[in-house]
Amino acid sequence: MTYARIAGVGSCLPEKVLTNKDLEGMMDTSDEWIRERTGMKRRHVAGEGETTGSMSLIAAQRALEMAGMAADELDMIVVGTCTPDKIIPATATIVQRELGIKGCPALDVNAACSGFLYGLDYANRYFLTGGAKKALVIGAETLTRIVNWEDRTTAVLFGDGAGAVVLEVSDEPGILATHIHANGEFEELLHTTGGISRGFDASCDRDGFVRMEGNAVFKRAVATFDSIARETVADLDGHLDDIDWFIPHQANMRIIKAAAKKLSMPMERVISTVDEHANTSAASIPLALDLAVREGRIKRGDTLLMAAFGAGFTWGSAMLKF
Ligand code: COA
Repeated sequence: MTYARIAGVGSCLPEKVLTNKDLEGMMDTSDEWIRERTGMKRRHVAGEGETTGSMSLIAAQRALEMAGMAADELDMIVVGTCTPDKIIPATATIVQRELGIKGCPALDVNAACSGFLYGLDYANRYFLTGGAKKALVIGAETLTRIVNWEDRTTAVLFGDGAGAVVLEVSDEPGILATHIHANGEFEELLHTTGGISRGFDASCDRDGFVRMEGNAVFKRAVATFDSIARETVADLDGHLDDIDWFIPHQANMRIIKAAAKKLSMPMERVISTVDEHANTSAASIPLALDLAVREGRIKRGDTLLMAAFGAGFTWGSAMLKF
């Protein structure tokens, strides 16, 4: 059997950091409120000239270095993002050019916070059908560019960053299962009112800022992790103990804890970065993965479960041997 196996991981975080205390000086909020409701303490914010593409490139270079792979060996580049550098071309083609290569397909996937897992699912299917032997999958965002800094209900929640994995074909188990889903019914619970074809016009409520019905999204997220847990249990024939590490999308510590509980996963086996990174959307899972690998917590041979939920709504999971 052929598998796509992670050969290298990498990430990039902007240097600029905004703490909850910094936010207190910018809007009517408090460190206490943010910590209690979300578990967040600080977030990285892209500086001038720093983009989804520039952070993706650094994350990709680090992942390629760990994999001991040259960029021109890649058969495919997928970037999960809802904050691309430009409308066209895809950020993946910008990363490709900056890596100094050409020819292999390069595309962006917009599934909001589930973007990395959608990208992983997409790339994995090429491996399973023999269409790719080496691929770069990135999750990267500059969400702070589309938050309204005058809206305390969303501005405190997001951060920027990028994470990348290099996949390589292997006879050894790698990606074991992926599941991705969507339901457009709840579009307006988490969205931007303006857009390319709808147009941008703040005077008639079509701006480009993130809007969220936080409480309703919270409830859907918790319920969705329940269905992800059931799919995973089915994949494992009920043997949840086989999972060494759970890496959930880092939206909110309370959601992470609820999701871990559904999976009967003790918090010691949950990778959490929400305190340091806040919600980095599609970047959050590969960022957390890279951190845990480089800290030596996740080791070769460990079984990982990744799960995400995001605007759309979209959601998904991936189970793999690292
Ligand atoms: N600082 C201080 N007070 C704030 C605040 C802030 N940054 N943001 C909101 N509040 C206030 C509200 O105005 C409200 O005040 P009121 O009771 O006087 O009306 C109060 O806090 C409670 O607001 P509510 O929205 O009910 O809080 P909550 O417990 O639901 O927590 C979220 C808010 C956003 C943290 C929470 O709903 C959440 O995490 N939702 C999911 C977010 C998410 O995961 N999004 C991405 C999905 S990928």
